[in-house]
Amino acid sequence: MVASVGLVSLFSCSHLKPSSLRWFSSTTHKPKPSAIVGISDDLVREWILKEGKATKIIRISPVGGGCINLAGRYDTDVGSFFVKSNRSIGPSMFEGEALGLRLMYETKTIRVPRPFKVGSLPGGGSFIIMEFIEFGASRNNQSVLGRQLAEMHKAGKSDKGFGFDVDNTIGSTPQVNTWTFDWVEFYAEHRLSYQLKLAREQYGDSVIYEKGQRLAKNLKPLFENVVVEPCLLHGDLWSGNVSSDKNGDPVILDPACYYGHNEAEFGMSWCAGFGGSFYNSYFEVMPKQPGFEKRRDLYMLYHYLNHYNLFGSGYRSSAMSIIDDYLQMLQV
Ligand SMILES: *[C@@H]1O[C@H](CO)[C@@H](O)[C@H](O)[C@H]1NC(C)=O
Ligand SMILES: *[C@@H]1O[C@H](CO)[C@@H](O)[C@H](O)[C@H]1NC(C)=O
Ligand SMILES: *[C@@H]1O[C@H](CO)[C@@H](O)[C@H](O)[C@H]1NC(C)=O
Repeated sequence: MVASVGLVSLFSCSHLKPSSLRWFSSTTHKPKPSAIVGISDDLVREWILKEGKATKIIRISPVGGGCINLAGRYDTDVGSFFVKSNRSIGPSMFEGEALGLRLMYETKTIRVPRPFKVGSLPGGGSFIIMEFIEFGASRNNQSVLGRQLAEMHKAGKSDKGFGFDVDNTIGSTPQVNTWTFDWVEFYAEHRLSYQLKLAREQYGDSVIYEKGQRLAKNLKPLFENVVVEPCLLHGDLWSGNVSSDKNGDPVILDPACYYGHNEAEFGMSWCAGFGGSFYNSYFEVMPKQPGFEKRRDLYMLYHYLNHYNLFGSGYRSSAMSIIDDYLQMLQV
């Protein structure tokens, strides 16, 4: 099962251009009136100079690369801030991002940009101010990444079951996080079924829909002898969203957080380049559960379906072959 999917995986991330270098930014030396071009950044400056405790904004430079939002780096006498803004949407998307970042930050396990402020712009847009992290040049240490990620999963617990306090997005697809006590139900309904419905609406693909739903209704045997605990997940962990700071410590960015089965974090592993030392350190902290290998493709399926919905039919066969293999294996 893994092999058939693996072949496709080799080239299937190519459209996702890792843009983690973007925060190096082309530093401009003259201050610009506004880094978030075309948007008045008065509210951002006001926050930086009051709550942010800066006395002076020294330099503002636009940071390129993000395709959806406008971004800028604000250097001040108390350090640098990273600001993203969007002139056409309300603050809910950035509030979701800030909540995810804050919860990950509070586990004190792995470095994430600390979120400071989300606000609305006059005229309908919104912005988020967070810590600016200077990235280092060295590739991050896979074994440290594995250990710290596992520590985050271990520390980030929920007493409301699986889900999150807000819905968020995976790529630009909505991700529904309605609290649910049963993981299998949550994953079947809010992850697989949601994407399958979208594929049927967008492409009229009733074949993948029917078969996928049949799988979604029959997941139980894949979870025999496993106790699934809700863990705080980054939710969109692939190489473009992993970097390292000046000290070489791992940094994870742009999350789509929710509380879920820790193994679901590896759903993007076909684009993440996790090696043996990553998994070894991970499992030292979060021991591998019975049936881990059997569920690997199941967790990739959500992301393949999402890629199918976002980027088109190139991803359909990966998703379809996972579904077919499971239907055969489960005899349903
Ligand atoms: C993180 O991944 C998403 C795709 O899911 C992408 O849109 C975003 O730009 C990535 N972040 C960085 C810093 O590259
Ligand atoms: C703002 O967000 C919307 C929806 O995600 C996106 O389509 C649009 O390009 C963004 N625009 C900016 C840069 O203000
Ligand atoms: C990664 O970190 C571990 C311990 O934290 C260390 O033993 C190992 O040598 C490091 N690996 C590399 C490639 O730097």
